[in-house]
Amino acid sequence: MCGVIGYIGPRNATPILIEGLRALEYRGYDSAGVFVAGRGALKRSGKVSELADAIPEDFTGTCGIAHTRWATHGAPTETNAHPHCDPTGTVWIIHNGIIENYADIKAALEKDGVIFKSETDTEVLAALIGKKYTEGVLLEDAVCGALKEVRGTYGLAAASVREPEKLVAARLSSPVMLGIGKDEYYIASDASAILKHTRDVIYLEDGEVATLTREGYEISTLSRTPLDKKVETLEWDVESAQKKGYDHFMMKEMMEIPETIENTLRGRLLPKEGDVKLGGLRDVLPQIRSAKRIMITACGSASYAGRVGELLLEEFAGIPVEVELGSELRYRRHTMDPKETVLLAISQSGETLDTIEAIREAKRHGVLTLGVVNVVGSSIARETTAGVYNHAGPEISVASTKAVISQMTVLALISILLGRQNGLSSTDGEHLVSELQKLPDLARTILSRRESIQAIAKKYAKVQNAFFLGRKFQCPIAYEGAIKLKEIAYIHAEGYAAGEMKHGPIALIEPSFLSVVLVPDDSMYEKSKSNIQEIRARGGTVIAITTDGKEDDLKGLADDVISVPNVHEALLPILTTIPVQLFAYYVALERGLNIDMPRNLAKSVTVE
Ligand code: AGP
Ligand code: GLU
Repeated sequence: MCGVIGYIGPRNATPILIEGLRALEYRGYDSAGVFVAGRGALKRSGKVSELADAIPEDFTGTCGIAHTRWATHGAPTETNAHPHCDPTGTVWIIHNGIIENYADIKAALEKDGVIFKSETDTEVLAALIGKKYTEGVLLEDAVCGALKEVRGTYGLAAASVREPEKLVAARLSSPVMLGIGKDEYYIASDASAILKHTRDVIYLEDGEVATLTREGYEISTLSRTPLDKKVETLEWDVESAQKKGYDHFMMKEMMEIPETIENTLRGRLLPKEGDVKLGGLRDVLPQIRSAKRIMITACGSASYAGRVGELLLEEFAGIPVEVELGSELRYRRHTMDPKETVLLAISQSGETLDTIEAIREAKRHGVLTLGVVNVVGSSIARETTAGVYNHAGPEISVASTKAVISQMTVLALISILLGRQNGLSSTDGEHLVSELQKLPDLARTILSRRESIQAIAKKYAKVQNAFFLGRKFQCPIAYEGAIKLKEIAYIHAEGYAAGEMKHGPIALIEPSFLSVVLVPDDSMYEKSKSNIQEIRARGGTVIAITTDGKEDDLKGLADDVISVPNVHEALLPILTTIPVQLFAYYVALERGLNIDMPRNLAKSVTVE
């Protein structure tokens, strides 16, 4: 998920590699490291500048690799930073992604006597490549041999002390490209790292491997079948390269939602058993399973994901759940019985002070605290007893998009895990797991419809007030839609339980007052449809967000209709979140606002 760069050519690699890491800093990271053939490796936790300051004058060479790490396995320490080597120090690799079956490979290698220095999955991959890299074997063949045994995702670069004039790159789900210079070649996870040197790139596709030497490059499949790839010339500047060509990080991160769901689910589903596995909860599972009550705490969008989790846990596991904002829970009279209650904190950044203080308050009373966190090694990850990482990758835009989707997905996994010990049948579990597996492609379908959402957003870009309305599983998404329209389009918007309209809010309805109603074909469909009729009877303007097949039923009723593919009712919030986020994005775009850095807001609210 973070930054990879490699260089081989006539120039000194070190400054090129460090400069490349600096161009990748925008992605967020927690540590960095470099390997230069003939000099070895240097790593530091913290900023690239700390690594740069530690590099001695004579740390020079013409072939090397460098990495900024966004930790997924193992805290952000110097030992866990990349590059990682095999036990003999011959093969050095840098890696973006997750080696899903690293534990099994690690156990087998430890049986052979390998002693690992780090907690990372990447070091295991390095050791596996080293094991294949016996005398006479070429580095590219050792890399391919190892990758055939690996499950997961990788965007990697490898170097070798034995073949110091060679680099190998490989890709599976995590982007890697080659930069083609004049008698010099680059590897990069993101064009911004090499644009200063060349605009001619070759994008590796999944399952492809590249071998770079001074003489040139070869590309093949993992089975070493040669491939002839097109060289593309990028027109991007550095900034647009960082956004993969999208106008904003928010759009780039929304477009990453399908792979984010895949990464969140990766290695955690047991389809045959209709169950899930969450290693981060293993040690406290008995205590969680005996919980009589779960208190979920979070802030902002994370709290709305929490409210989806509340419904999921009640629906699948039959456990009473309460959701309380971090800023409120920390001041309430404490009623959490440590023998019966578990606190579940949700936070993308893991640094939200209100959520942290709520955790500390619960811990003071001996309550077991769990975290659903995206940033490995963050305060909440460290201060909670156990938890589940999102694996959503860096989220740069202030408006949280892919992380919120990942939070709801993790909560669905936890609900199945607890449910399967609490009355959820294997058949129901199997069905839910198979529904979860559909989500990435259904998300892709929704994203492929974004231009129709943009056309609708343009129509309403001048509204001054809006309701977002939903029932049951869609109610939290009404709040999510409202916060997004507020925070990036600066439009006053309120999320409401649709059933609440008649208890006051409907007094505000008039033609200029927009109501976005979440009305999928679920158990609440007819009631939500009635809410639309109530609004229309008072001249209100309505956008209906429904599911495929219901568009015609709503066309005559709502002014505009957006539809998404259907899935299990309890998982549908994960999908309906996408159009409400896209709607806010396109309204803000139409209003010409600073979408990635909205006024008055910060990405991580580390103040009270
Ligand atoms: C969401 O778009 C907002 N940026 C904000 O509500 C955010 O969700 C909230 O501050 C919580 O942040 P966290 O997930 O990092 O704790
Ligand atoms: N899974 C690897 C680690 O935790 C890769 C991290 C990254 O993608 O930056 O070290």
